[in-house]
Amino acid sequence: KERIVQEKGLDHTLNILEEGYLFIKNRMDRYQCDMFETHIMGEKAICLSGEEACKIFYNEELFQRKGAMPMRVQKTLFGVNAIQGMDKKPHTERKLFFMSLMTEERQNELTQLFEKELEASVAKWMEKKEIVLFHEVKNIICKVACKWTGVPVKENEIEDRADDFCSMIDGIGGVGPRYWKGKSGRNKTEEWIQGIIEDVRQGKLKMEEDSPLKSMAFHRDLDGNQMDLPMAAKELINVIRPIVAISTYITFTALAVYEHPHCQDELLCNEDKYYEMFVQEVRRFYPFTPFLGARVHRDFEWNGYGFKKGVLVLLDVYGMDHDPHIWKNPEQFEPNRFLEEKDRTYSFIPQGGGDPAKGHRCPGEGITIEIMKASLNFLVNKIEFKVPEQDLSFRLSRIPTLPESGFVMTNIKRKA
Ligand code: HEM
Repeated sequence: KERIVQEKGLDHTLNILEEGYLFIKNRMDRYQCDMFETHIMGEKAICLSGEEACKIFYNEELFQRKGAMPMRVQKTLFGVNAIQGMDKKPHTERKLFFMSLMTEERQNELTQLFEKELEASVAKWMEKKEIVLFHEVKNIICKVACKWTGVPVKENEIEDRADDFCSMIDGIGGVGPRYWKGKSGRNKTEEWIQGIIEDVRQGKLKMEEDSPLKSMAFHRDLDGNQMDLPMAAKELINVIRPIVAISTYITFTALAVYEHPHCQDELLCNEDKYYEMFVQEVRRFYPFTPFLGARVHRDFEWNGYGFKKGVLVLLDVYGMDHDPHIWKNPEQFEPNRFLEEKDRTYSFIPQGGGDPAKGHRCPGEGITIEIMKASLNFLVNKIEFKVPEQDLSFRLSRIPTLPESGFVMTNIKRKA
């Protein structure tokens, strides 16, 4: 049997903390391979990259998600035992339910709510010396996500709630204080959302007929039972939290407009097709999801290598977004690369690969793209602003990352 490169050393967890998004790519480049073996978090892990690897990673006969996610990630980002760690029929059923909350019509409603809130913020921003885009947008989008799902939230509560959602996302790659903050953000949020779902179940909270809150509160799983209260809360959080996370991509969108002035002319033409390509390029170029994990479901052989049941496998999402075998000049920001119509189901995977209805691919890509396009339109066509001297760099060693300054804007005016 072919032997793959085996990284020497007892454990490389610390290297993930040091190298962040580049952990797998650095090794693939060093060993000139697209598969290697390493040890992280006290166990063997096989790292994979490339379109073909992505196809097997999403084959659920070969891989399972149960037991793949470290507890620390479940206690911050995802929620213990929620959809991300389910497999086969129960997963498919839960997933189709999630997707039913995100129809095109519902997606449009969310985007319209978001545009209205952005618009309403301009007057306030015009009075300020400066604003930090990330801070403003995380609050706006948290308010909108709660409104859209049907979760009541008071105006003076929004900032704290938004910070808790952000701490769950930020906690994933952190140790010590960042992890504890993420865990506490999750605990607080779960308690809050459980209380609301309980009120809905007891008929104490009146709401719209088809809100995601109501659907989640009364959804019945395959066994015909309602989800227990903690699970219903975790899954509703699995809708709101990632919507709040789009604030990271919005900040990178602003950075992209600023850093890549060669796109200005095309942006000013204001054509939907170019806006779509621009946000796709933002999702490719800037880092968000580092890699994905699964466990081998049954022994199999691929490319001459024997995968053994139970072994942890990591798929290099960030590396694939910057892989010269997949993208021409991957380190250049070029929206026009998306002009070429191509099946990218397994090669462009910033939010996972494959078919969302059949596997774990993110069901929120449509929402993400529409919200990003609305933000881009707002930044380019609705307001004028200055970008003062600031630190716009982002660290690839930090998971997740963001421009250091959060994107400071001054002299904000409405465009005539
Ligand atoms: C799954 C990324 C926005 C809901 C995922 C996955 C990734 C991802 C990488 C895992 C794919 C896999 O395991 O194979 C992102 C990013 C977003 C985003 C970067 C933008 C900031 C959203 C939105 C929603 C959402 C807006 C919902 C409104 C979910 C859910 C899952 C998921 C429920 C679990 C799916 C499953 O396990 O079957 N997302 N997502 N995401 N995402 Fe997103």
